[in-house]
Amino acid sequence: MNTSRRTVIAAGLAAGVAATSAGTARATTGRAPTRTLFGTLDDGTPVHLWTLARGGIRLGVLSYGGIVHRLDVPDRHGRLANIALGFDNLADYVAKSPYFGALIGRYGNRIAAGRFTLDGHTHQLPLNDGANSLHGGTKGFDKQMWHVEPFTHGSRTGITLSRTSPDGEMGYPGTLKVQVTYTLTARGEWRIDYAATTDRATVVNLTNHTYFNLAGEGSGPVSDHTLELAAARYTPVDAGLIPTGELARVSGTPFDFRRTKPIGRDLRQGHQQLLYGKGFDHNWVLDKGITAEPEYALTLAEPRSGRVMRVSTTEPGLQFYSGNFLDGTLVGTSGRTYRQGDALCLETQHFPDSPNHPAFPSTVLRPGATYRTSTVHTFSTR
Ligand code: GLA
Repeated sequence: MNTSRRTVIAAGLAAGVAATSAGTARATTGRAPTRTLFGTLDDGTPVHLWTLARGGIRLGVLSYGGIVHRLDVPDRHGRLANIALGFDNLADYVAKSPYFGALIGRYGNRIAAGRFTLDGHTHQLPLNDGANSLHGGTKGFDKQMWHVEPFTHGSRTGITLSRTSPDGEMGYPGTLKVQVTYTLTARGEWRIDYAATTDRATVVNLTNHTYFNLAGEGSGPVSDHTLELAAARYTPVDAGLIPTGELARVSGTPFDFRRTKPIGRDLRQGHQQLLYGKGFDHNWVLDKGITAEPEYALTLAEPRSGRVMRVSTTEPGLQFYSGNFLDGTLVGTSGRTYRQGDALCLETQHFPDSPNHPAFPSTVLRPGATYRTSTVHTFSTR
């Protein structure tokens, strides 16, 4: 623990964190997020890259899609690497991104046939994933401009992204006011707090779609990364990746990550669920359930670099997607192609297609209530 703290701190020097002679770290006071022009949309809208640095971590976020463009984290020798897949230019994010780093809304993952009924009204969403609606539709939150406000409070620094999603946007009812805050802390944490209110009953399920490779983006497959997932059950899917409604036990299946194991160990088992997803692309039912404060969900580790990421969340579900649809056709931030399994996503969420599964935890938001969820990623080394 001591060694890993020191590693984080050493690298912190490069990322704007001061160390005292005693070896303890304190954040450089007043170091506010910086803003640079990243690109311009076809309609002339400027897109900015916001850079935050604290606790040895550096996070770059775009005002387009709330996209995590890069996430620089130290290895056990204090060397920083960008562990988030992305592009080096705006045009690629607009034209062909498989949700790299994006803020996902209004609804993370799939809604069957893009249809749900709420209070007797049936709502039809755009179908952008075969017969289903995925990640909020054809122009979800990942493709919208966000208003960004920076802040620095003591040991924390961050940005708040906000936008109002008009009533009926992408077929969803209600004017949805959304605020998402990305915070870095002096303790090596990247925290996301989501909040939303509505003026009409609607459904909401927000998440972040960062593709992680703890050895660095573009460095090859993540099959040697180890994962521990505190979940005894998962939600099996049909051929269209829609949950069947069953909460199946992971015991005796490739889906059992209760004891840490390499991601690649069972990935090639001839299990029907792995065939449907072309790998892992499933929602795990976190043992902790919905919690008021973020509680432990998983640990991801990469043996060569020693980088470790722990995730805690208030959410009841976790979509673990093993980068199955990356196919070597995209050239990433540092000029290398991304091939199948070169990254994984760990999307904290409510379960996919919940509006059509009354037994799943509800994703309904009503006027007067505030949607609030939080997820914390804590980085260290071993
Ligand atoms: C989610 C889905 C996957 C895939 C990716 C984006 O993780 O579950 O099936 O659509 O997003 O490519």
